[in-house]
Amino acid sequence: MSALDELRRSTVRVMEVGPRDGLQNEAARVSTEEKVAFVDALSAAGHRAIEVSAFVSPKWVPQMADAADVFSGIRRRKGTTYSALVPNLKGLERALAAQVDEVAIIAHASETFSRRNLNQGIEESLAGYLPVCDRAREAGLRVRGYVSNAFGCPFEGEVSPAKVLEVAGRMIDMGAYEVAISDTTGVGHPGQVDAVLAALTARLPVDRLALHFHDTRGTALANVLAGLLAGVRTFDASAGGLGGCPFAPAATGNLATEDLLFMLDGLGIQTGVSLDGVMAASRAIEPRLGHPLPSRVVQARVTSASREVSA
Ligand code: HMG
Ligand code: MG
Repeated sequence: MSALDELRRSTVRVMEVGPRDGLQNEAARVSTEEKVAFVDALSAAGHRAIEVSAFVSPKWVPQMADAADVFSGIRRRKGTTYSALVPNLKGLERALAAQVDEVAIIAHASETFSRRNLNQGIEESLAGYLPVCDRAREAGLRVRGYVSNAFGCPFEGEVSPAKVLEVAGRMIDMGAYEVAISDTTGVGHPGQVDAVLAALTARLPVDRLALHFHDTRGTALANVLAGLLAGVRTFDASAGGLGGCPFAPAATGNLATEDLLFMLDGLGIQTGVSLDGVMAASRAIEPRLGHPLPSRVVQARVTSASREVSA
């Protein structure tokens, strides 16, 4: 049996980050109602995990200023986890008031990027997350971690897998159930994914790791395949391929959920998410953005060799 045949028996969990990682980077103003409709359409597509928004400083990321209103507007589908990014205790308290199901915290494998994104160094940010994790645990919320710049930094260049391991391990030690190893600026390639995962899984269980790719250089799907072969079963993706980081030069879109599903469906891997459903969500929000969606599958407008999807 080939390695790909083995994968056919597996199930993958998709973390949909379009409403947060996608919309945080859009120049056009997307109304709260449009964001709510986007999240509802993604729920209807069968997503079990959606990162809905971010309770960050509105001075830093104005696109996420309406996080509480988005949470109060969405229809929560039973069995789906609706999460939000929080950078500090203030964000966590806002998230608790909005009755989020889960929060995400973000740390970096690069000191310069950490200062650009959080106005704090790596150590200071990790120290700040200790009370956030304690308070979340007290409130019964799960915490997910991100390690940004895990495959390279636009300011510092190469990032060592040992640093990624250190930061990921500390997030797990403080209570994160899972850490998303993130290629913020889309510089990673499959050989590097393999090497970084080898360093991580020497110390951390593979089922505590997820992968978060941006498709800046067209390597995101190849990186997913490298991750699958290394045993990772959770992947972040953004509907339509929306996304980027406002604090990363030239950080283009995330791996598109449609492109991920097209490959996983083709491999016979179960996700529970409908490709046509995600595509409908993306196409509904596309006219609000003022540019075409980067997803290759959305651009091709077909989800199978024989069927044209209606506009
Ligand atoms: P700061 O300016 O150093 O913090 O920002 P501060 O404590 O001095 O606060 C400044 C102002 O913001 C104050 O208001 C605070 O009250 C307010 P003022 O007194 O001036 O009126 N404030 C808040 N308001 C609402 N909610 C909050 C909050 N916190 C402070 N939670 C801070 C430090 C961490 C707050 C800021 O840098 C920040 O919010 N950063 C978030 C940046 C961000 O969201 N980046 C994009 C997401 S990360 C990403 O996309 C990568 C990822 O996808 C993975 C990958 O691809 O790598 C996850
Ligand atoms: Mg990202």
